[in-house]
Amino acid sequence: MTTLLPERLLASVRSSDSIVINGERRASMSGETFDVFDPGTGEVIGQAASGGETDIDVAVRDADRAFRESWKDAKPTVRAKALLRLADLIEENTAELAQLETLDNGKPLWETTNFDVPMTAELYRYYGGWATKLTGDVLPVSPLFGPAFAYTRREPFGVVGAIVPWNFPLMISAWKLAPALAAGNAVVIKPAEQTPLSAVRIAELALEAGFPPGVMNVVTGFGETAGAPLVTHPLVRTVAFTGSGEVGKLIMRSAADHLKPVHLELGGKSPNIIMADADIPSAVQGAMLGIFFNQGEVCCAGSRIYVDAPVYDEFVDAITTHAGSLKLGHGLAEGTQMGPLVSAEQLERVGGFVERSREDGATVAVGGERAKDVNNGGYFYRPTVVTGTTDDMEIAREEVFGPVAVVMPFDGEDDVLRRANGNANGLAAAVWTRDVSRAHRLASQLEAGTVWVNAYNMIDPTMPFGGYKASGFGRDSGAEALLHYTQTKSVWVNLDR
Ligand code: NAI
Ligand code: MG
Repeated sequence: MTTLLPERLLASVRSSDSIVINGERRASMSGETFDVFDPGTGEVIGQAASGGETDIDVAVRDADRAFRESWKDAKPTVRAKALLRLADLIEENTAELAQLETLDNGKPLWETTNFDVPMTAELYRYYGGWATKLTGDVLPVSPLFGPAFAYTRREPFGVVGAIVPWNFPLMISAWKLAPALAAGNAVVIKPAEQTPLSAVRIAELALEAGFPPGVMNVVTGFGETAGAPLVTHPLVRTVAFTGSGEVGKLIMRSAADHLKPVHLELGGKSPNIIMADADIPSAVQGAMLGIFFNQGEVCCAGSRIYVDAPVYDEFVDAITTHAGSLKLGHGLAEGTQMGPLVSAEQLERVGGFVERSREDGATVAVGGERAKDVNNGGYFYRPTVVTGTTDDMEIAREEVFGPVAVVMPFDGEDDVLRRANGNANGLAAAVWTRDVSRAHRLASQLEAGTVWVNAYNMIDPTMPFGGYKASGFGRDSGAEALLHYTQTKSVWVNLDR
């Protein structure tokens, strides 16, 4: 399979100089590396540099220098051009980036080609537009002493520390990098240890696009050794994180010691609500997309499917049939509909949730096992639907982060609202109905940062994305994300001196 890849791609996969500081690729100071796996075979396909505290220190200092010397006062048109050019370069290199992301994460090539890469390009393009449109206000002050003129400026923080997960490496990196860079910050990004490859290519393309060296830096490595020192480095002024709630709490605690703001996008257990008056075939398709897209390794996955009692049996029949017929395969193989999970650890974790649900008395209607027949060494897990659960069972309450949905019947709008909102998380929710009043009523009552009506997993660079409750705070995408990467300065000018 890997022989299909271009030589340049293979070279970048094999390399252990995956740290990018001041526009140069480097090995880690300690010389330590870690293995990069192909999740479709379980084979080691290369090494990446395991960065540590010293690498972070060098990267952050260099980013701070680049911020002061070449980025913070760069003309907005210069920043815009670099971001727009990067968007173009990403599109021009779609085939390579898509293969790289598929090889690293396992997800199907059709997905990286038609979703991850184009969405990444559009994020850089969208924030490229913002670079020239970040205005302050002229303030209608009423001075108590003498005439005055006052205004605000939106200024960058300096160095932004970004820590990202493995489920959408390119896109989630762009969620942080694009608005941060548009606003004039420099960034040090730490990709997930499971998927270090694509961030390195983006940093290379960024240089080609005209970003000054040092403005975008990548330190590959593990959470405790590279992520933690990035959070505490005194020159890192704000931290943007997507990942688990557990690590989100650690980051917030350690940021508190340094009084630095954090923006956390954490997990979910999102309710997908199917009313009896919905177009059921579309709802089934939407529910499939909601839980099996990207192997269910999606923070907003529709993992709690609530179905109106009158259509429950029909819905369960349909979704189990469809789930059972999804074609699993290597991400690079023709016709693959669902790829492997990202790692042996994630495979173990997902399988553990399903095993415990059986012990709790739930029924596995379809799936519920590793798919060794696809590839004995790959991390394949069958699309799984679990029924016979109550809302308080672990499988219905906790994020599985894999292709596992629970389907539960409900009795009326009040019942489903109470149960949908009864979870600690609040990242996303969806409602399937033909009743327009009901759709808006539920959209207003659901405790979630995003609500889809007759749709699932739809996102856009213009649309803020983030959590209510335990799913975190702050928003990626949209104008709102720029608030995390700018601080407001008020300027007062005395007019009679
Ligand atoms: P994680 O939260 O440990 O990893 C996310 C990122 O944080 C990675 O870059 C990791 O290296 C870094 N990190 C880990 N420990 C750190 C620390 N002490 N300080 C600074 N950075 C640190 O997620 P993991 O272990 O990969 O997955 C565990 C579970 O988390 C998943 O099963 C899923 O439920 C959830 N998750 C949610 C994601 C989301 O998109 N909201 C993404 C990834 C995982
Ligand atoms: Mg972890």
